[in-house]
Amino acid sequence: MTEIINRQYFLASRPGAMPTTENVQCRDVPLAPPGPGEVILRNLYISLDPAIRGWMSDAPNYIEPIALGDAVRSSVLGRVVESNSPDFAVGDVAMSVGAWEQYTTAPAAGLNKLDETAGIPLSLFLGALGPTGLTAYFGLLEVGKPRAGETVLVSAAAGAVGSVVGQIAKMQGCRVVGMAGSEDKCRWLTDELGFDAAINYKTCGDYVAAIQKAAPEGVDVYFDNVGGEILDAALLCLNQFARVAVCGWISTYNEANPPGPVNLWQVVARSATVQGFTVLDYLDRFAEGIGQLAEWLMAGKLKYREEIVDGLDNILPTFLRLFDGSNSGKLVIRIPE
Ligand SMILES: NC(=O)c1ccc[n+]([C@@H]2O[C@H](COP(=O)([O-])OP(=O)(O)OC[C@H]3O[C@@H](n4cnc5c(N)ncnc54)[C@H](OP(=O)(O)O)[C@@H]3O)[C@@H](O)[C@H]2O)c1
Repeated sequence: MTEIINRQYFLASRPGAMPTTENVQCRDVPLAPPGPGEVILRNLYISLDPAIRGWMSDAPNYIEPIALGDAVRSSVLGRVVESNSPDFAVGDVAMSVGAWEQYTTAPAAGLNKLDETAGIPLSLFLGALGPTGLTAYFGLLEVGKPRAGETVLVSAAAGAVGSVVGQIAKMQGCRVVGMAGSEDKCRWLTDELGFDAAINYKTCGDYVAAIQKAAPEGVDVYFDNVGGEILDAALLCLNQFARVAVCGWISTYNEANPPGPVNLWQVVARSATVQGFTVLDYLDRFAEGIGQLAEWLMAGKLKYREEIVDGLDNILPTFLRLFDGSNSGKLVIRIPE
């Protein structure tokens, strides 16, 4: 049998700021046969998530840092090309924790089989019907706990997580304000997703004044995707007993020494609750979340944007687009079959 070569992008050194080609390098390695109980996937889609930047650093995180020399960890979705498990046949499609690589070898026990025949575009299982949709669903409903009539503010609102948060909040009967980094994104939020207001944080000037104008009755739930100055502004706009769901702090991920929030005292002043979470906190409820998200999607109540970029060799520059906002919705790399 001809030897299969696996192209990988691996962590050669830890980035101090924005990752570069010094930090993430390419190599071609022979693909080893699967071990007992293992399956080899030919990856079709690789999910690009801001969290990967955190795993590139060795700061304490909710999962282990990527070891130097290892391929960069990512969620992947691929087709089974070899299987040593009775649960997977060649040709099946499955999701796995994998890496920035053409082939992923993983224990069958860690794979999620997907039904290709359901007519759902496969990439959605990495986005609105996958980890990002679930993050929005559990983070908003379980941590933000929105009630009808309340005001929900969400940052990175046109992104993969934020756009789903805002739409679910609308379905709960809330007034929803989104913050995003371009006029096009803001228009999409209000005109197509039904947000009540959108703030272009790159042009609005004073964040506090802009939030107060868009949310004149104050903020009851702030879904924080960005941290930094936007979090500080949101803290000044909270109502009594507000909830801050801390999902991510993308504005700090490439900063060596990011400043902490300076307005945290407002949590005392407003008897507010600040709670961080990761989607993994809700692992045992994923089936429920995916079921509900799929129902909303089929009913046309949940809209999404995704940006699919072809070619494993484009993976690093594409990943970096998460940090300048030039991505539009869920960002994935496709490796065409
Ligand atoms: N807790 C969890 O389990 C969990 C799971 C998934 C994701 N997350 C977090 O959720 C957040 C969003 O992730 P995502 O996958 O949905 O990404 P995304 O929103 O699709 O893409 C990232 C967006 O963040 C915005 N952004 C980048 N740098 C920024 C800055 N300095 N200030 C303000 N906005 C900035 C950009 O949009 P603009 O054009 O609007 O600037 C960019 O498009 C991230 O913080 C991520 O780490 C957490």
